[in-house]
Amino acid sequence: MASWGSGREGERKKAVVVCVGQVVTDHTFRVDEVEPPPSKTTARGYAPSVGGMAANAAIAVVRLGGAALFWGRVGRDEAGEELRHVLEAEGVDASGLVMAEGARTPLSAVIVDKRGERSIVTYRGERLPTDPSALPLERLAEAGALLCDPRWPEAAELAFRAARARGLASALDAEKSEERVLRQLVPLADHVIFAKTGLTIFAPNLPPEEGLARALTTGPLALAAVTLGEKGTDWRCPGMERAATRPAFPVEATNTTGAGDVFHGAYTLAIAEGQGVEEALRFASAAGALRARDGRTPDRAMLEELLAGDTDQPPVRTRRKA
Ligand SMILES: Nc1ncnc2c1ncn2[C@@H]1O[C@H](COP(=O)(O)OP(=O)(O)OP(=O)(O)O)[C@@H](O)[C@H]1O
Ligand SMILES: [Mg+2]
Repeated sequence: MASWGSGREGERKKAVVVCVGQVVTDHTFRVDEVEPPPSKTTARGYAPSVGGMAANAAIAVVRLGGAALFWGRVGRDEAGEELRHVLEAEGVDASGLVMAEGARTPLSAVIVDKRGERSIVTYRGERLPTDPSALPLERLAEAGALLCDPRWPEAAELAFRAARARGLASALDAEKSEERVLRQLVPLADHVIFAKTGLTIFAPNLPPEEGLARALTTGPLALAAVTLGEKGTDWRCPGMERAATRPAFPVEATNTTGAGDVFHGAYTLAIAEGQGVEEALRFASAAGALRARDGRTPDRAMLEELLAGDTDQPPVRTRRKA
């Protein structure tokens, strides 16, 4: 287990996180307003970048002082080569990236308005292989924690089962996806952190607090939580009568794209470093807030600065029953 902040710089052992799932090219267009269709809008800016939940999380792990292995899949095409290159340039170990002949690499159109709010259209690629049996599962032996998103469910299931067999802590980014995929993966992870829509799909017709309680009944989970943007994160551990809220750090958002991905990467790194659940939620909230503020993933020094300035550490607020 790595111990951040203890020992001399050169002796610090990095916590390793294996991140499994989506990598896409994000084509980001900045506009004043997203017009309702039919419409024609001139972008104020455009930039391509690496995106995808697990890929953004892996980059966050590295920026925040950990080490990341990325396991995912792309086509052996120009976009796939570029994504591999960018991941490696970020310091992520991308040797577990499957590049499939004849497949097409996923991409997203990301439209960001002047309030920093984003709308995303994702093309999930074509002919990407589903069989995860070539993944280097033995490398979980190096890891302090595992993070999976739901975009390669076969790989996530295999990795979660292998992690559980080893007693390795694991987290799921329970983003919007097919209900059957969420039902398949939620019971297999130790820490399940939903996006708002993910929780609605997993537990339709239930208030969020009860949706989290339902998630906790599906397996030996240590935490079920849901991120709510600038409203913070509602979370619940077994034995808690109610959900609690971890408030967001107040920032002026310029681009909220990837805040959730960075949150999940930071949370899993914190767990790999041995932080407790509440501490990890605070750490992850700071990382998500900085990403939303700057549109860039923060480094560890920036995050520590925000945490150090947060003298107003509210006690855990227990939410009243509606
Ligand atoms: N505008 C914001 N201000 C402060 N913190 C934010 C803001 N947006 C996000 N965060 C932090 O990041 C966390 C995750 O954000 P959010 O709930 O928007 O994720 P998401 O819906 O999964 O989005 P995505 O996956 O596109 O990044 C929040 O719980 C919060 O802690
Ligand atoms: Mg998300």
